[in-house]
Amino acid sequence: MCGIVGILGSKPVAIDLVDALRRLEYRGYDSAGIATVEKGKLDRRRAEGKLRNLETRLHEEPLKGHVGIGHTRWATHGRPTELNAHPHMSDRVSVVHNGIIENFRDLKQDLQAKGHKFTSDTDTEAVVHLITDGLQRGLKPIEATKEALSRLHGAFALAIIFAGEDDLMIGARQGSPLAIGHGKGEMYLGSDAIALAPFTDTITYLDEGDWCVLSRDTSVIFDKGNRRVDRPTIKSVASSLLVDKGNYRHFMAKEIHEQPEVISHTLGNYIDMAAGIVKMPALGIDLSEVNRVTISACGTAYYAGVVGKYWIEKYARLPVEIDIASEFRYREVPLQPGGLSVFVSQSGETADTLEALRYCKRNGQTIASIVNVRTSTIARESNTILPTLAGPEIGVASTKAFTSQLSVLACLALALGRARGTLSPETEQELVKALTELPRHISTLLHNETVYEELAHEISKARDVLYLGRGVSFPIAMEGALKLKEISYIHAEGYAAGELKHGPIALIDENVPVIVVAPEDELFDKTVSNMQEVAARGGQIILISDAPTERAGCRLLAHIKMPKAHALTNPLLYAVPIQLIAYHTAVFMGTDVDQPRNLAKSVTVE
Ligand code: M6R
Repeated sequence: MCGIVGILGSKPVAIDLVDALRRLEYRGYDSAGIATVEKGKLDRRRAEGKLRNLETRLHEEPLKGHVGIGHTRWATHGRPTELNAHPHMSDRVSVVHNGIIENFRDLKQDLQAKGHKFTSDTDTEAVVHLITDGLQRGLKPIEATKEALSRLHGAFALAIIFAGEDDLMIGARQGSPLAIGHGKGEMYLGSDAIALAPFTDTITYLDEGDWCVLSRDTSVIFDKGNRRVDRPTIKSVASSLLVDKGNYRHFMAKEIHEQPEVISHTLGNYIDMAAGIVKMPALGIDLSEVNRVTISACGTAYYAGVVGKYWIEKYARLPVEIDIASEFRYREVPLQPGGLSVFVSQSGETADTLEALRYCKRNGQTIASIVNVRTSTIARESNTILPTLAGPEIGVASTKAFTSQLSVLACLALALGRARGTLSPETEQELVKALTELPRHISTLLHNETVYEELAHEISKARDVLYLGRGVSFPIAMEGALKLKEISYIHAEGYAAGELKHGPIALIDENVPVIVVAPEDELFDKTVSNMQEVAARGGQIILISDAPTERAGCRLLAHIKMPKAHALTNPLLYAVPIQLIAYHTAVFMGTDVDQPRNLAKSVTVE
């Protein structure tokens, strides 16, 4: 998703702007640009593609202003060309924007009728001309911006600078995150604290509807009613976190390998190791009285939620409804008081998940969010946060965030089970023990990746790949397919193994690898029958299982041998090979593993 940065500096800011944009690269982007005010005039450089292209442009024609804004763009309105890249500007004002201005067509028509000339296909340019229009009518920059903001509909974050104003920057937040960074005689704006980490760890997050007026020494915040407000200033931990690849070739590889550690860390937050029981923070609701759980999320976080559903139903005997947030938010789901709504999101900023949360809140549900970013909007709008302690996840393809989400959901299921009396103390201890053994099992799995490197050759030849799983392995199959699609661009689908014969079996031939996620549990024999159906049609089976190879009862292209673990922890354990299959296939194919095409890390538009 687009990244925003702004600097009111004491020296030329172009290099620092690019540096901050580099830290936002993980969000995904397809063009970039910066603008500064130099001798009272606005000027900008923009480039399609990666930041190195922008750096080349800046090298050829440097920008020397001490106040500037920068942007990495993930295209929504208009193709990812230089013309559509931000900053957008007139001779009076320059704007960078994350989000969507929903009423831009109406605004554009009005402004064009008044003689404003548009040069891009973006919605953002309407903001530029709206402010310019106010300035042309004699309004001062702050007044012109205030007036323009009152006319914008949609979800957005903005950073704005003005010609002739060397000590002024305005920021606004409505639906997309924005943070002020406080320096010594310098002031910053950024989409998140990670972008600002090299400059300052003193951060103020704007609330929904806030806008701010910054100079090098002051920051004044207004709420959506234009009343002056104070927002807390916090010390961000982002600066102390190393956002680099270490010895790994890609962030994704590093993040896969961090899983034993981050799962331990996350479980440590929810388990009393000495007593062998789960210890959840107060959820603002008596868990024994919860009558229904609703889970909502997107993408990988949604698949974590599906696993959570299986667990809560099994261990707490509680009905769970789960839906993709973009569907849930428009479904007009009837909700009774007494329900617990759980939202799962790495970034905590996903627009659809946030709206689903707001729907549940309006309908009297208690809101618990499983988020990786504690300062995120979803976290702030929840009754309780159940943090995942995964650290910043930079690779666009979610890995360690997924298994950390599963860790929290497993603890939540056990806590609900204990509160509702469906889990005996002995069973709880047995399950907690299984969870604590998990990091060790995952470490074992990560010791040898040769099998994945070999498989990558085979999978890279395929046009379609099917993933099959039964029961709680079904969401892992879907997650496997999503991972492969995202980073290798090979078409893949995850199916419930029993559903195969109801349609997808028509796809099977000798060119279709079928990856079967099948721990040796009570459903294993059923899945074996499905594998045989595949084998009979010439499909190439890759089995991921702790069962002896002979139990497959058919020819396998490969058997990824898994350690024996408790059924509760299998989804977390089996997530690792499906991540490694996708990773090594993408590396073999030479795709951009950490920033796959068209994808964004934090999806703040619907
Ligand atoms: O930040 P979130 O967890 O809310 O993001 C949800 C999805 O956009 C995300 O999981 C996406 O599917 C990932 N790219 C998956 O690897």
